[in-house]
Parts: sequence; C-alpha cells; structure tokens
Amino acid sequence: MTATIRHDHVGEIRVFQDIASLVQTAAERFVELAAQAIDDHQRFLVALSGGNTPRPLYELLATDAFADRIDWTRVEVFFTDERCVPPDHPDSNYLMARLAFLDKVPIPPENVHRIHGGLPPTDAALAYHNELGSALSRDGRLDLILLGMGPDGHTASLFPGSDALEEKDTDVVAIYVEHMHSWRVTLTLPALNAATNILFLVSGARKAPVLARVFSGEMLPAGLVRPDVGTLTWFVDQEAASLARVQARAQRA
Ligand code: 6PG
Repeated sequence: MTATIRHDHVGEIRVFQDIASLVQTAAERFVELAAQAIDDHQRFLVALSGGNTPRPLYELLATDAFADRIDWTRVEVFFTDERCVPPDHPDSNYLMARLAFLDKVPIPPENVHRIHGGLPPTDAALAYHNELGSALSRDGRLDLILLGMGPDGHTASLFPGSDALEEKDTDVVAIYVEHMHSWRVTLTLPALNAATNILFLVSGARKAPVLARVFSGEMLPAGLVRPDVGTLTWFVDQEAASLARVQARAQRA
C-alpha cells in the first residue's frame, strides 16, 4: 500500500511501505519518463546520483523486465555530482552506476557522460559545464534528475552552509567539503531546478529527522530544490517518513 499527497513546500510525496516497493515504482517511473521523452524529442536525458539508496533502482533497471522496455540507444546519462577520485575508485559515483547497471544494458558508451573526478576539481567542473551545456543546447532540459538526501539535508554535493548554494549563474561547481576533507563536483541549484522532472529517493529511519525538517519547510539544501517549471516528487519509505507530519496525512489520503 502506498499513499500519495501534495505538499506546499516539496511537491508530490509518495510514501511506500518498504524500499522494495519504492524501487519498483521508481523503475516504472523511469521507464515511463524515458518513453515520453523519446517520443517527444528522440532522447532521454537523465542525471544520476550516487550514494546507496539508488543502487537497487539501478540494479532493477538492468533486469530484463525493465531493460527490455527502454531504448538505451536514446538514453543519455549524466551525473548530479561526483567525488574527486578516479573512475575506478570505490567512492566513484560513476563506478557505482556502471557496476549496478550501465555495464549491463545496451547503452552506447558515448551516451554516458561522467564527471571526470580524476582531474583537478575546477578543471572537472569546467569540462562538465561544457559537456552538459552542449547536450542542453541541443535538447533544452534534463528530462529526469534522480536525487538522494543525506542525514544533514545535503543533496547532490550541495551541503548545508556551502557557498555553492548561492550560485546563480553557474551550472557546475567544484567544492571542498570541509568535514569530509575532500573535493567534489556538483550541479548547482539552478542546474537542478531547470530539469523537467526531479525525483528524490529517501529511505530508512536514519533519514526520518531530516525529512521531517525539510517537509516542515526548513531551508536545507534538499528543500531548496524546487523546479522552475518541472515536476518535483519524493518517493520515501515509511521508516524515513515516520517523523514527518505528512505521514499522518498520507495515511489518511
Ligand atoms: C553522493 C550523492 C549524495 C547522496 C546522498 C544520499 O554522491 O553521495 O549524490 O547526494 O545522494 O548523500 O546518500 P545515500 O543514498 O547513501 O543515503
């Protein structure tokens, strides 16, 4: 059983009983949006997040039940953010996505646009600005951005208090994340908010306190994601939703 509600601050919220049903519905949504975009403008531009939450979705997309329903030759994969490590490093978001599904589906290698985490961070950001820019000058918008949220409310690599949150004119930046002692490259809020569809995936009790804060309107980075014209949807499981006031409303819906 799932419940769907509309929320003033954060768009549509769907609460799922468990991560398995969340992932199943997310995979269906991915297939639908791919078909719509390909029908509309011959290509499906999707930006992927790293972290653990989307991994089972990526794995499901690689199964015959889903992979056979997608014209992978028309899918262009981008990334919301990357850790500044080489592409074969265990922390690489690109490596995670490659192992989970990109190596298993018939997507042409040139359709996978990774952030070059092995370059000096500002060079990687500039290179990605150019790569994303040339795709968007042809296709206009990213059709789908998949986002996760950390327990501190960060999304992509936009952390609370970061200067990157103030970026208005740049679509990709390199940032040094003090508390992680590491560099990352990330899309900025204007780049995220320009997408046609944004889907957050959030699961587990560890995320419950921060989800409650975001849904109550606190301006944490994930709460600043508000598409200019596109759709914003949150897929959350019951554990993650357990402290958010929407849970009570969702169960009544
Ligand atoms: C990354 C991300 C990041 C992630 C959140 C949630 O590279 O780490 O893109 O924003 O989505 O940290 O991560 P989990 O899904 O692992 O909780």
